[in-house]
Amino acid sequence: MRILVTGCEGMLGRAVTSCLSPAHQVRGVDLKDGDLADRKVATRILEGVRPDWVVNCAAWTDVDGAEEHREQALAANADLPANLSRLCDRLGCGLTHLSTDYVFSGVGRGFAEDSPRAPVNHYGLTKARGEEAVERMTSPWQIVRTSWLFGDGPRNFVRTIAGLLSRRRMIRVVDDQRGNPTYTEDLAAVIEFLVTGGHRGIFHATNSGVCTWWEFARAIAAEAGCDPERVQPCPSSEYPRPAPRPACSILESGRLEAVGCPARPPWRDALSRYYRLLVSDEARYRLD
Ligand SMILES: NC(=O)c1ccc[n+]([C@@H]2O[C@H](COP(=O)([O-])OP(=O)(O)OC[C@H]3O[C@@H](n4cnc5c(N)ncnc54)[C@H](OP(=O)(O)O)[C@@H]3O)[C@@H](O)[C@H]2O)c1
Repeated sequence: MRILVTGCEGMLGRAVTSCLSPAHQVRGVDLKDGDLADRKVATRILEGVRPDWVVNCAAWTDVDGAEEHREQALAANADLPANLSRLCDRLGCGLTHLSTDYVFSGVGRGFAEDSPRAPVNHYGLTKARGEEAVERMTSPWQIVRTSWLFGDGPRNFVRTIAGLLSRRRMIRVVDDQRGNPTYTEDLAAVIEFLVTGGHRGIFHATNSGVCTWWEFARAIAAEAGCDPERVQPCPSSEYPRPAPRPACSILESGRLEAVGCPARPPWRDALSRYYRLLVSDEARYRLD
């Protein structure tokens, strides 16, 4: 297939590009190639590539920054997928659009693919609008919601915690938000499965298992050879942030099971694989 990956230099985009490249003709674009929230630019790029399928990893992902930069976040997370949806319909190609646990309220024990959207912050609202645009498509579409991503890239929670542990004796991490950490490499494999299978609709894709940010941070400490007791739990109220966070981000993945997707590895195993990569390439992955 000829596949266009948008946001190809982002954390997920680079994993998706390398996962799809051996078997497919992959073209990656990022912001430096043009702003896809601009309809004319998006038209130029898609008509130039003429893909069979588009995987949209481009997004505004600064959750706190979205509260201040409301219009830019809305453009990247709602106008951009709306442009891609219209163009994919016109060109007769499929679209896989990445979305987030933050479209949900955070109240409850977990969210199924058809749970109602009820975002608690502006980032979640913009992502919900993007989903609505994709759902109006006539060409094949997939919305893949994921959560708590880590993987190759300059910034992620694993690098932040490892860096903090290298500088401080004790750190405090919130223990009242629950979710599913997800390794970009494992998510990319699910995306390849969905794209090549041509499955349609909404899917939830994460590594298996649930934890709090504190439990995740303790596991990172263990990987780094530090005493996990150096990571202490605290409530979110201790770290007030511009954007409220949902307390429960757990994504139930029944639809992936239903279409025969192989089981996702546990997040703890994924963390070990990623951490080995992180330390094996110290020059590129300075823990700062
Ligand atoms: N990170 C997470 O924990 C997480 C959790 C749940 C869901 N997700 C979803 O997963 C997807 C991928 O996230 P990620 O963490 O890989 O994101 P990321 O690292 O921030 O990458 C997004 C990429 O999109 C580019 N981009 C932004 N606006 C654009 C525009 N208007 N036109 C073209 N390119 C644009 C960015 O360029 P610049 O860097 O130059 O701005 C960046 O390279 C997103 O849909 C996100 O909502 C992420």
